[in-house]
Amino acid sequence: MSVTLPDGFVWGVAGAAHQIEGGNWNNDWWAFEHTPDSGCVDVSGDACDSLHRYPDDIALAAGLGFDTYRFSLEWSRIEPEDGEFSRAALDHYRRMLATCHELGIAPVVTFHHFTTPRWMADRGDWAEPAVVDKFTRFCERSVAHFGDLIAMACTINEPNIVSLMGYLTGRFAPGRRDFALYGKVNEHLRDAHRRSYEALKAGPGDFPVGLTLSMSDWYTPEGGEEGLERARAMHEDFFLTPTRGDDYIGVQAYTRTRIGLDGLPMDPDPDGPTVESMGYEYWPQSLEAAIRHAIDVTGNPVYVTENGIGVDDDAVRIKFVTEALAGLGRCLADGLDVRGYTYWSLLDNFEWAEGYKPRFGLVSVDRDTFERTPKPSAAWLGALARANELPESAVGA
Ligand code: BGC
Repeated sequence: MSVTLPDGFVWGVAGAAHQIEGGNWNNDWWAFEHTPDSGCVDVSGDACDSLHRYPDDIALAAGLGFDTYRFSLEWSRIEPEDGEFSRAALDHYRRMLATCHELGIAPVVTFHHFTTPRWMADRGDWAEPAVVDKFTRFCERSVAHFGDLIAMACTINEPNIVSLMGYLTGRFAPGRRDFALYGKVNEHLRDAHRRSYEALKAGPGDFPVGLTLSMSDWYTPEGGEEGLERARAMHEDFFLTPTRGDDYIGVQAYTRTRIGLDGLPMDPDPDGPTVESMGYEYWPQSLEAAIRHAIDVTGNPVYVTENGIGVDDDAVRIKFVTEALAGLGRCLADGLDVRGYTYWSLLDNFEWAEGYKPRFGLVSVDRDTFERTPKPSAAWLGALARANELPESAVGA
């Protein structure tokens, strides 16, 4: 028995500029990767050369049967210096959008996916209040140039990861560890979402706009409930609450967060399965928990804008997605408004501080020739997308 999903449910694959384009030397991440002691395993270099090969990538995604292709704009290409906009870069992204339409796949555009131009980074990156105006202006200029071709937009991808990893743990650009700064950055990101949301709605085109958030399932031993609530409120609800009334909320879930009795994150359960490349728990149940929490807090329609696993063994990927989709199916059975599922990622790509080791892709990429080779999971998930069905083994799970 299989379960057919509601009409209009969309299936997608995703990527992000810095992780696949290559040569994004003019942003804070490139600078960070090249900083000794940053902890980065690799530099992004040519990435997947998608800057030039995007027609192949879009054709691959469309050919596999997906409805949407999610990609991000590289702010540092479109605005290489403060206030200086590149007509050529704007035209490039317009061509990408047009290619999606020509190939029959709907483009989902992310306006900020972790990277900020160097000129903004030099002024303090997300810690500098002016970033809100600067980011809004970038959104206005971009949407004016190609808003008519956008099918759906995300303002800022995982603002809670930008602040947590960039300003608290120091694992991501700009590598800061400062609690006071972290608080400020959160505020700027939240304000930038609100302002850019309005800017995108005011521009040409008529498409849903939302925020995509990193979410998880949360666990604490008995007695830790208060600490868990505090941590979740800071990491998730701070960003969820102000999105109430947005067109949608984008849910992204990969693993579980464990909070100890001291209110701080704990290591993964030593007895449970882990995703070795990422050092976190194998926890497909996170998707269901995240969808339910996002709807509880916002009341918005949900699109799953990222879910996936970074493993070499493709059979494990199929198992993980099957289990995650079972949770999505339970949400639908309960009448929750979930409108789509996007797998992260189409390609094996630059996994930030972890470099090229984690393989999230449905498609592998030869690091010397950039040749793309679909894995079995690509055809498997594409077939579900075409049929608009949950996998048989997920039903009743
Ligand atoms: C990010 C992606 C990343 C993925 C897998 C999300 O946090 O949006 O850029 O590659 O997770 O770790």
